[in-house]
Amino acid sequence: MTTPRDLVGGTPTATHTVTFDGRELPVQSGQSIAAVLWAAGILAWRTTRENGAPRGAFCGIGQCFDCLVTVNGRPNQRACLVPASPGDTITTQEGTGRAELGC
Ligand code: FES
Repeated sequence: MTTPRDLVGGTPTATHTVTFDGRELPVQSGQSIAAVLWAAGILAWRTTRENGAPRGAFCGIGQCFDCLVTVNGRPNQRACLVPASPGDTITTQEGTGRAELGC
């Protein structure tokens, strides 16, 4: 099967890395955090407040807020919108991402 990448002759390479829950992941320049996680086969990286149900990217355009993740200690970042910057430390977000505040 021919992919769009095959048609344009693209050969992207990783330019830097980030860590997700302690796992080092390769990043191609310009990728969002959601794209990096998907490329690594990671489809869920948040749990809901009420039932702890798994969530990941749904809309991919910053509207649904299903893709919230903690980036460098800051919770509630939309993975589909935030570019993966060199050395970012990304972690799964549980509930509101502010467990230390008891909410
Ligand atoms: S996937 Fe919907 S806001 Fe990110």
